Amino acid sequence: MATLRLPATPAGIAEAAALLRAGALVAFGTETVYGLGADATNAEAVAGIFAAKNRPRFNPLICHYAEPEEPFADVAPHQLAERLARRFWPGPLTLILPRREPGRVALLTGAGLPSLAVRVPAHPLAHALLAAVGRPVAAPSANRSGRISPTRAEDVLAELDGRIAAVLDCGPCAVGVESTVLDLTGPVPLLLRPGGVTAEALRDVVGPIAPAGPVAGPEAVRAPGQLASHYAPSLPVRLEATSVAADEALLAFGPPLPGAGAVFALSETADLTEAAARLFAGLRALDGTGLARIAVMPIPRHGLGLAINDRLARAAADRPG
Ligand code: TXA
Ligand code: MG
Repeated sequence: MATLRLPATPAGIAEAAALLRAGALVAFGTETVYGLGADATNAEAVAGIFAAKNRPRFNPLICHYAEPEEPFADVAPHQLAERLARRFWPGPLTLILPRREPGRVALLTGAGLPSLAVRVPAHPLAHALLAAVGRPVAAPSANRSGRISPTRAEDVLAELDGRIAAVLDCGPCAVGVESTVLDLTGPVPLLLRPGGVTAEALRDVVGPIAPAGPVAGPEAVRAPGQLASHYAPSLPVRLEATSVAADEALLAFGPPLPGAGAVFALSETADLTEAAARLFAGLRALDGTGLARIAVMPIPRHGLGLAINDRLARAAADRPG
């Protein structure tokens, strides 16, 4: 695939929006760094982000919106969040809040977590693009996994040329560091990632903020153990199943094995993108069957299969059985 470099004109923005609405990947500039965008309500499009970035695991993505009130369609109402939104949005602040369920945002966007990261970028072109898309846009930084975040369209192309449909050239990013990530799901606001909005500025509105501690940084989470348990279904998980019993629920890849008490087909055609898109919905559905355990058919360990296997291995490790 040749990656289009779209100009920051009304026609360029309209084309970028049409591509996103059709499920394609489009990088775009924000005031912080360039994001690699996909329609957050389209799980297959979001799976494409992980494939393009070569990400070996599914970590939760930020949903981007045009207007400060829009995120609250997808996350629970929250007084402090609404005050922060009035003060800092549009701007480089990401808030983590409980997601509304059932919701339009794909489970894969939030890596199956009960929370969702939301932000309203200040860049006028990002705003125009998001308004034209009319849906939440999931976007991690537009670099390959393990590399630094791009702040110019040419940096994006150096990372992802040929792997994404287009980049909307929004010029150089003004802030150059990622957004501040503030977790509001617990009793005390927790700073997960320092960024474009300073902790001092936040404290004026929020009062005391707990730092994330030694795990601060891009991979910081409220508490690693807590995140791990959110990743885990309540039923035990048995990996690499080559046969299945009637008291088991089967997570199938390719043609399902016969004999299971319940079946969820990740992909009948053994397509890894389709399987990634359906993984979290499948785990939830089978967890609800009340059978003895979830048996998982082998999934190849290449491309998106790496992230799928990483997720399944954690689910199995958490509840041995
Ligand atoms: O400035 C930015 O935030 C850029 C631009 C493109 O908006 N985006 C960005 O995305 O930096 P990314 O995926 O590189 O970083 C998102 C961070 C990660 O550290 C991720 O773990 C955290 O936000 N995060 C997202 N959802 C979360 C959740 N539900 N709970 C905890 N952490 C979350
Ligand atoms: Mg990043």
